[in-house]
Amino acid sequence: TKLDMELAAIEKGGYDHFMLKEIFEQPQTIYDCLRGRLDATAGTITMSGVEKYAEQIMNANRIVMVACGTSWHAGLVAEYIFEELCRINVEVEYASEFRYRNPVINKGDVIIAISQSGETADTLVAIENAKAKGAIILGVVNVVGSSIARISDAGAYTHAGPEIGVASTKAFTAQLAVLTMIALKVAHMKGSIDQQRYIHLLKELDAIPEKVTRLLEQEEQIKKLAEKYKDAQDFLFLGRGYNFPVALEGALKLKEISYIHAEGYPAAEMKHGPIALVDENLPVVFIATKDSYHEKVISNMQEIKARKGKVIAIITEGDEHSTALANDVIVVPEADEIVAPMLSTIPTQLLAYYIGVAKDFDVDKPRNLAKSVTVE
Ligand code: G6P
Repeated sequence: TKLDMELAAIEKGGYDHFMLKEIFEQPQTIYDCLRGRLDATAGTITMSGVEKYAEQIMNANRIVMVACGTSWHAGLVAEYIFEELCRINVEVEYASEFRYRNPVINKGDVIIAISQSGETADTLVAIENAKAKGAIILGVVNVVGSSIARISDAGAYTHAGPEIGVASTKAFTAQLAVLTMIALKVAHMKGSIDQQRYIHLLKELDAIPEKVTRLLEQEEQIKKLAEKYKDAQDFLFLGRGYNFPVALEGALKLKEISYIHAEGYPAAEMKHGPIALVDENLPVVFIATKDSYHEKVISNMQEIKARKGKVIAIITEGDEHSTALANDVIVVPEADEIVAPMLSTIPTQLLAYYIGVAKDFDVDKPRNLAKSVTVE
């Protein structure tokens, strides 16, 4: 009815779809996630759940991230961050594999379960099993009071608010914010980070919401790119280091929303296979923001160019060199590499969204997908 349609429009807050609304909520959701926890001026991070298990986490032989889908990608970013800042061995596991393969779990292992819904069956059972074997379970969950939140020993909510679009967007960046705070907190307690870098990273984290606002201003330009590339049969997403999981997530988003086959790969690994696909019809999205891997990514970009692939580069503002190499660029504000994924992932969300819309697909409810997979 007309009333139903009007109500639906109100819920979407003036946006055409929940997915777009949720993408645009990210300055606020990341801010909400940091608020009350991060105090960059005082140099503190307050997270009671983490504080309660401080000793165990600092002394853990390893941390295992367990998740599915987009949440698994957040775990991969966290692996890089935790290993760098905390010097603790991290493994990232698909919950569905972890639960069935009789994994080695020792008493005192720390498991971080990452889940938007808190109801994903595989993730839930994986942590139940691990808990029974004496692991400590921390939950990084969005839905308050959900099953995963309840079974966890402690944790930190992502506070991103309800996510309606089936493809996860704002929950992902909130997961990154929480996981980064946990890593910083643990590193600080453990003394594995020097004070100057610690304070610098707190400030960098604090500056993210404002930078997200700025980068969202490129919406129109990304929309044009979507028009230009919407008929591609395949896409490749490449990145290294902290941006490698961003490449995986970009490819996943495109598959989910636009039904275009896409692969995410570590940029250097493409030589061992995907490079065979490259010709003038293949768009290759490089996540190539300025970081310690930058020079290496640039040479991978040149390799794609030499084979006539179409390079779409997500780069740092003012990076003239990459601009000259790429067919198209999307710029993101400068940020430390530890926090950069919260920025570099957003253009890939918008690209997937606008290609899906251009193809007239139901972006909020893509075919065959469920918001939360509560059965096997
Ligand atoms: C489904 C959703 C994805 C989500 C995944 C894990 O596949 O469609 O968007 O990333 O489940 O869900 P969770 O709620 O555990 O994060």
